[in-house]
Formats: sequence, C-alpha cells, structure tokens
Amino acid sequence: MTTTIDQYAVMGYPIAHSQSPRIHTLFAAQTGQALEYRAILVEPGGFAAAARAFRVAGGKGLNVTVPFKPDAWVFADILSARAERAGAVNTLIFEPGGVRGDNTDGLGLVRDLTVNQGYTLTGRRILLLGAGGAARGVLQPLLAERPTQITIANRTAEKALGLAVRFSDLGRVAACGFAELAGRQFDLIINATAAGLEGAAPPLPAGVLADGGWCYDLMYGREPTAFVRWGRAQGATRSLDGLGMLVEQAAESFRLWRGVWPDTAPVIAALRDFSDAKSGSKTTGSAPTGDS
Ligand code: ATR
Repeated sequence: MTTTIDQYAVMGYPIAHSQSPRIHTLFAAQTGQALEYRAILVEPGGFAAAARAFRVAGGKGLNVTVPFKPDAWVFADILSARAERAGAVNTLIFEPGGVRGDNTDGLGLVRDLTVNQGYTLTGRRILLLGAGGAARGVLQPLLAERPTQITIANRTAEKALGLAVRFSDLGRVAACGFAELAGRQFDLIINATAAGLEGAAPPLPAGVLADGGWCYDLMYGREPTAFVRWGRAQGATRSLDGLGMLVEQAAESFRLWRGVWPDTAPVIAALRDFSDAKSGSKTTGSAPTGDS
C-alpha cells in the first residue's frame, strides 16, 4: 500500500526568498499534519498552466504571491467575499467540485495587530499609505474592526480616491495625496506602498503620527525597514514590520486547507531568530506584503 502525502506549494516570481515552506513545515510538525510544501518559480504569464498542472498532479492547495495574485483571482471558480473585494487571491483550495480562492492577507494584518500586539483598531484614526494591491487586500478586514475612519494616501491621489470609492460602503474611507496630510494626525499609520523596495519611506509631513501612535509596515526585512525606522524617529509607541502578518496569513491558509489552527507565536519567534542570525551575514532583504 502506498500513502501519498498531501502536496501544497507557493507560486511566485521571484520565489527564492519565500518563507512559506519554512512556515508551513513548522505548522505541520506542530499540528501533526502530514503534508509537503514547496516553493515553485513560475514565469510571468505561466500561472494558470502551472496551477492546473499542480492540481492535476494531486496538489491540494496553493499559496500565491507577487505577481500572480490577480491571476489566481481569475483562476478560482469560487471566491470568498474578502477575496472578491480585494481583487486578489493568495490562497487556492483545490476541492473535488472546483477551485476555491481566498485572500488571507488582511486577516493576517488584523490578527497580528489585535491578537499578537493587543492593539484595538476600533475607534482609531487610521492612515493607510498606498493604493495598490497590498492596500486593497487589507481594507475590508481593517474596516470590519470599525475604526473611526481610514484615510488612504497615495503618491497618485486619484488611485487612492478610486479605492476609497470601492470600499465606501463598508465604513468611512477618505483619500488624498501625501502633501494633503500636513496638519492632520493619525493613531495608526500602515505602510502598504512599495517605497521600501527602494529603501525609502513615503514622504510624510512631520507631526502626522499622533502622540502614542503606532506604525506598521506590511513589508519585513532582516534589518528594520525604512518605514519602521521612520516610525521610531517619530516616537511611535510601536513601529512594527510585517513578519507577524506573514505568519498569520499563512496560519489562515493552513486552517482553510487542514481545518486546524496552528500556534503562530513560536513560528514568529523562530523566523525572527532565523532572520536575526542571518543579519550578521549582511544579506539584507525585504519582501512585499503578504509576500509569502
Ligand atoms: P502592491 O501589490 O505591492 O501594492 P502595486 O499594486 O504596484 O504593488 O502598488 C504599489 C504602491 O506603492 C502604489 O500605491 C504606489 O504608488 P502609485 O500608485 O503612485 O504608483 C506606491 N509606491 C511605489 N513606489 C513608491 C515610492 N517611492 N513612494 C511612494 N509610494 C510608492
């Protein structure tokens, strides 16, 4: 009798930096689930064919990262409400009746803030920087926590406005360019821009973080990101990177596939240790949001 171990993978381009195989292997060991999880490099334009081939070969599910989240959204037969809104899918569940698509990024952010960090989002003034896929992916779960308002600020203000309109039925959402933030204050500033890839923080006016305010960068790196450093310089109570979000979005994918919740705290600690150990090697790097 042969037993086949359930197969999962993350697909992206590039993919070598992916922490997902490590995270899911730790989850599987911790929960006693028999599965294998690997990283697959897919060339741009090749997502649907690669996902189909993985499924035909017996794959049970996929994580999807940059740049294929919109392709996975198209590929899925059935979408969760949060994935539908986000316009992007980071988790595919292969079921006999079809392919289910979900997006666990926003929940990952909210769980890292509220459960791991003990932060209350309800009643807060939130500034969300960026209006691309990363920002779109976190808006619905953030609004579900009932902040006073979310202001979306973006280099290209019209894109922020488009997002605000798209989510305006879920809560109070406003939009502007960075310059219009002068004189305003926020309790929590979330960086969902790609500015960190250029080693920069978005250009924000001084004083925009309220006293006692928090900063959260959806990116993470072996060294503190430019935005995390900016938050510290502004006197943020906490200035956090996206490593906790990365592990939390993975935990929700794992739950969708396996029906069990892994304990994320030891996995976050293991990844933090791993990256601290590596920072001695001077190989710095950061990965975009939810970039499994
Ligand atoms: P992602 O899926 O990571 O969100 P994206 O959809 O390409 O990627 O969006 C990138 C976001 O980062 C956009 O909001 C972009 O601003 P524009 O809409 O004006 O292009 C923002 N961004 C990229 N580089 C930036 C920089 N150097 N400073 C500020 N914002 C930047």
